[in-house]
Amino acid sequence: MWRADDVEILILVENQIDMLLPDLEGDGGHCVSRTGLIHHFDPKEIPVQAENGISLLVTARRGRHQMRVMFDVGMTGRVMLHNLEALHQDLDSIDHIVISHGHPDHYGGILPVLEEFPRAVPIASHPDAFLPRYAVMGDGRVAPFYNEGFQADRLDGGPGRLVMTKDPLELASGVLTTGEIPRNTSFEGPVVSEDTRKPGLYQVASDGQLRTDEVWDEQGLVIDLGDEGLVVLTGCAHAGVVNTIHRAQELTGNQRIRAVMGGFHLGFPTTPVENVDKTLEALRDLEVQTVVPMHCSGLRAHTAFSTGMEDNYVQPAVGSNFIFGA
Ligand SMILES: [Fe+2]
Repeated sequence: MWRADDVEILILVENQIDMLLPDLEGDGGHCVSRTGLIHHFDPKEIPVQAENGISLLVTARRGRHQMRVMFDVGMTGRVMLHNLEALHQDLDSIDHIVISHGHPDHYGGILPVLEEFPRAVPIASHPDAFLPRYAVMGDGRVAPFYNEGFQADRLDGGPGRLVMTKDPLELASGVLTTGEIPRNTSFEGPVVSEDTRKPGLYQVASDGQLRTDEVWDEQGLVIDLGDEGLVVLTGCAHAGVVNTIHRAQELTGNQRIRAVMGGFHLGFPTTPVENVDKTLEALRDLEVQTVVPMHCSGLRAHTAFSTGMEDNYVQPAVGSNFIFGA
C-alpha cells in the first residue's frame, strides 16, 4: 500500500476553545500551531467558536499530490461555516467528506455545508448510519428518531455523492477509512441490553426490531506515514479507540502509531469509569507518540492522559493545526 509523506490536521470544530495555548515546535516531537490570543483579539479576524461536535480537516500530501478530507462536519452548519470562514478555509479545496457515524454531533453541519459546496463531492458513510435511532434516558424520557436529519436521499440530491459502504475506502496514497471496526478489546464497545426501556442508545435494525445500538456504522480515518507511523482519527470511538487503532494496523500492516486524535467516548455516562485507565494503559503499550483526546473524551480522560502520558498528551482546541511527518 502507498504511504503519504506528511499530513496536516486542522481542528474545525471541537468542544473546547483555549486561546492561551502555546504553539508546540518540536517539543516532545509535537508540531502544533494554535489559533491563539493574537487571532482572537485581532480586529481583522473573526474568533472561532466551540460546540459539542467534531470536524477535522485533513490535508495529506505525497510528492506534488494533495488530498483534503473533511472528517465529520460538526453539530450545526452555523458553527461549521463560521469556523471555515474564521480559519480561512475554502470548501473548493476539499476532495472528500467522511462521516464517522450517524450521530448529530458528527453529521449535523452536512446540509448547510453541501449548500455552500461549489461542485460535486463524495461523502463516505456506513449504511447503518441511516437506520432510525432512539435515545432512552433513565427517567423515562425518549428521543425518538434523533438522527432524522441524516437521510441518504437528502445527501445525494445536490452536490453530495453518497458512497455507502461497510468496507474500508482508500481515498489517496496512505489515506483510508477503516470501514466497520471489529470489537476485539474486552472492555470496549457498547454494552448490549435486551431491555429497550433501560437508559442507552437503541436502533431499529434492518429487520424492523428495536435493538441496542452498537453503532456499527462508526469508522475512523487513517493516514499512513510509513516509517513515521499511522495517524488514527476517531469520531466518537463508539467502537473503542483501541479497536480503531488495531483495525488501522491490520489494514495497513503498519504497527507504529504516530498519533491518535478524536473522540475517545470515555466521558459518556454509560462508559465504565475504569475504561479511562484501561485505555491509558493500552495506548502506553502501543507506544502512541501523540495522544489528543477530543470531544466526548471527558474531563477524567484529559486529567488521566495529561498526567499519565504527559509527554504524549496534547490539549485540543478549535483552530489548532497539527503537522505529522514533515
Ligand atoms: Fe460524538
